[in-house]
Amino acid sequence: MTPYRSVFKDETKLDINYVPHRLPHRDRELRLLMEFFSFLLRTPEKMTQRIMITGDVGTGKTALSQRFGAEITREANKRGTNLRSIHVNCREYRGSLFLILHHVVSIFHPNFPRRGYSAEELLGILLQVLDDQKAYVVLTLDEFESLVEREGSEAVYKLTRLQEMRLNKPQRISLICILRSLKVIEKLDASARSTLQSNIIHLEGYSKQQLMDILNDRVSLAFKSLTVPEDTASLTAELAFSENGNARFGIELLWRAGKYADAEDLDTVVPECVRKAASSIYAVMRKSDLALLRLHEKLFLLGVARLFKESEKAYVSLTEVEQAYAVLCEGFDVQPYSHTQLWKYLRALSALGIVKTEVSAAGSRGRSTLISLPRIPAYELEKELSVLLQKEES
Ligand SMILES: Nc1ncnc2c1ncn2[C@@H]1O[C@H](COP(=O)(O)OP(=O)(O)O)[C@@H](O)[C@H]1O
Ligand SMILES: [Mg+2]
Repeated sequence: MTPYRSVFKDETKLDINYVPHRLPHRDRELRLLMEFFSFLLRTPEKMTQRIMITGDVGTGKTALSQRFGAEITREANKRGTNLRSIHVNCREYRGSLFLILHHVVSIFHPNFPRRGYSAEELLGILLQVLDDQKAYVVLTLDEFESLVEREGSEAVYKLTRLQEMRLNKPQRISLICILRSLKVIEKLDASARSTLQSNIIHLEGYSKQQLMDILNDRVSLAFKSLTVPEDTASLTAELAFSENGNARFGIELLWRAGKYADAEDLDTVVPECVRKAASSIYAVMRKSDLALLRLHEKLFLLGVARLFKESEKAYVSLTEVEQAYAVLCEGFDVQPYSHTQLWKYLRALSALGIVKTEVSAAGSRGRSTLISLPRIPAYELEKELSVLLQKEES
């Protein structure tokens, strides 16, 4: 047998959770964050900060906040300040403030009981622990839209009011809220909005050249030298650029292209490997997204899949989907949600890129919302969702 050869030197450097030390083209934003939080290095007890980071998928929001968290913690600790940076993905906790706070409290109190406390009480307990330990926290709430959608303005008040009531005590918890766009914030009432909206850092999608710089850094970390030709990097950057400057897409593509090269026992990752990777990548992005959907989002989407499976049309109307969804709800023995709620779900699904929506030209019956599935075969979507829904039922 020939020994196993690989173009990779260290695949983990292409892992979705890996945060590189250098973030090309985000130096300005990193410096800005350090400035916003510079008080933590001098007089941490005097104030807290609230920042929002916005930007499309793959613009580096998560990576930037994690890099920042690591740096501010290191600097503060050097100066003898007990600072903790805590990063929470709200979607992983289904947008529940209680679960999010329980997770944060558990970091200080492992095995903290799940029952018997409200979200406010958990926050009180957290502040008490921080007082006891003279500790400060930068709490990053990633995918913040999920918290807003579930808990609305109340969550914002709970997170901020309790601290504001502690008049003569040190300030403890600063917030970084990460979200795709400010649209979600519009749903909050005016005062919750103004509580949050003071400092906003918006991350634009990367240009092709910027993606080249990011990808070349990763190539040298993850691949053996001379295994990734210039053309391959360029094609990868091009494709990531056409996905709205999405660096995540580019890195994922690079990893898969390397996998194809290994599978075919090639010495170099040729552009054809990138093309193969591109055609397979949507399926993977989709699967992880689908698993995190709520029950009614899944049912709604299954309605979409069924309609497309049964027809040759490229578009279906929201009304048609609502009817298909209602039938599915009956089958699952659950009450269908209201039009308003479904409308919110549709917006979320469209933000995830699973469906596309557009408003039809005004026809005889006025405008209507049209839904399409741009890149997912309906039968595959149906299969995926059916498996997930079966798990949910059992
Ligand atoms: N400026 C950058 N330099 C290096 N890697 C980056 C940069 N921006 C994003 N990435 C990488 O791209 C991927 C997606 O970034 P991420 O922070 O998850 O985006 P977002 O949270 O905005 O969706 C991650 O693997 C991240 O490490
Ligand atoms: Mg992210």
